[in-house]
Amino acid sequence: MEKEKILFNIKEEALKNHVPIIEDDSLEYIINILKDKKPNKILEIGTAVGYSAINFSQYLVGENSKVITIEIKDKMYEKALENISLMGLQDKIEVINADATKYLKEINEQFDIIFIDAAKGQYLVFLEEAIRLCKIGGIIIADNMLYRGRTLSDYNEHKHRTATNRLREYLVQMKEDKRLNSTLIKVGDGLAISIVKNK
Ligand SMILES: C[S@@+](CC[C@H](N)C(=O)[O-])C[C@H]1O[C@@H](n2cnc3c(N)ncnc32)[C@H](O)[C@@H]1O
Repeated sequence: MEKEKILFNIKEEALKNHVPIIEDDSLEYIINILKDKKPNKILEIGTAVGYSAINFSQYLVGENSKVITIEIKDKMYEKALENISLMGLQDKIEVINADATKYLKEINEQFDIIFIDAAKGQYLVFLEEAIRLCKIGGIIIADNMLYRGRTLSDYNEHKHRTATNRLREYLVQMKEDKRLNSTLIKVGDGLAISIVKNK
């Protein structure tokens, strides 16, 4: 089967199973960043079935280029491995089956692009580690910053309040942090884009 068709099927299956994969316009926006940035190393926090990692891997540039992506759930991890293998991308995408809040603290590699797309309650933890692991001039992107409008809403159901508060704290932190130059892009469910200026 053609690679394009396999990728289409991966997306369709994810949507059918309600796996929260990246929205089309957010993906398009990030792809434009990748085309411009020509990354050699990408770190993703939150793999799910590997859909975004597979897409990102098409824009890697240079020798030994790689996407490293972290997934906490065993079932998602297995599915991501299966999908990456169907696409023949095992040498370009490394999936780590771990809790990113712990795993990130154990690594020191430097990345050109870091994509945060996992538990919203942990976004600030991910941001601090991402700054440490991002090259100067590199870009940290966080998805779902608008959380379907909840981040900017006066009232939210109790079950969404912790995540909403953490996302708001992230927005304040990314603006106030002297190491970053950040903006919020209202595409898809909201993308926070931060360029690491210094550390
Ligand atoms: C929104 S989905 C990722 C979608 C994927 N980036 C895509 O667009 O195709 C979020 C994933 O993060 C995983 N996750 C949540 N908390 C995590 C953590 N602490 N460490 C690693 N993965 C985590 C979830 O299990 C879920 O599969």
